[in-house]
Amino acid sequence: MSKTVLHCKDIVKTYGEAEAAVLALQGVTLDVYRGEMMMLVGPSGCGKTTFVSCISGLLDFDSGVCDILGKDITSMDTEEVVAFRGRHIGFVFQSFNLLPALTCVENVALPLTIANADKAQSYTKAKVLLDAVGLGEKYDSKPKHLSGGEQQRVAVARALVHEPDLIICDEPTSSLDHQTGQAVMQLLQKMKNETHITIIVVTHDNRIYKYGDRMAHMEDGKIRKVEQLG
Ligand SMILES: Nc1ncnc2c1ncn2[C@@H]1O[C@H](COP(=O)(O)OP(=O)(O)OP(=O)(O)O)[C@@H](O)[C@H]1O
Ligand SMILES: [Mg+2]
Repeated sequence: MSKTVLHCKDIVKTYGEAEAAVLALQGVTLDVYRGEMMMLVGPSGCGKTTFVSCISGLLDFDSGVCDILGKDITSMDTEEVVAFRGRHIGFVFQSFNLLPALTCVENVALPLTIANADKAQSYTKAKVLLDAVGLGEKYDSKPKHLSGGEQQRVAVARALVHEPDLIICDEPTSSLDHQTGQAVMQLLQKMKNETHITIIVVTHDNRIYKYGDRMAHMEDGKIRKVEQLG
């Protein structure tokens, strides 16, 4: 049996209270294994972003189990979750979340900077990844001078820079043209093949389904089925 990187059972998440309450996750159960790319698909509003936010420790949930690398994230306090995420998880947000005051290199190197890594080495690593996502010319540009697709690629590079065990990408190709989208997916696939990293990709883009090993279908806050791809 492959090593389980993510084990979720019956995760329930409600936003708001009383009449305004929205039951976004209605008991999500999913296991993801080391070295696989799991595609997470489903209609808009079905709970995909909510789910990946919960498993990254960015959002508290009402009940259920979430173990990452065998650690129960619900038992950690905020500081422990932040440190755990910094070490083990890379996240590409649906809304990029780049820091506007920082250049591309500084944004990509940020996870290493936070971990107090050597600055010169961090920037060298950041530049290698920016080259890999086709942004070799933009090292010193600030996010506001980049297109949406370019910002997305910076966000992908940032998620990879600290070589996390698990990368979670929420719609990583949504602002990219076909060719750039394929290049980003090829980079993720290459990382996966070389380092056995585990990747979860939330997507609507059927042109990238082929990169997945399995696909989880979400509907109304639940995983309805998980299928093997390829
Ligand atoms: N902060 C919030 N407060 C209240 N309700 C929210 C909040 N965020 C999301 N929701 C609701 O929770 C449900 C799930 O939203 P979520 O963003 O997880 O969907 P999604 O599957 O990622 O959709 P999309 O494909 O459009 O990104 C939706 O009904 C949404 O309106
Ligand atoms: Mg979403």
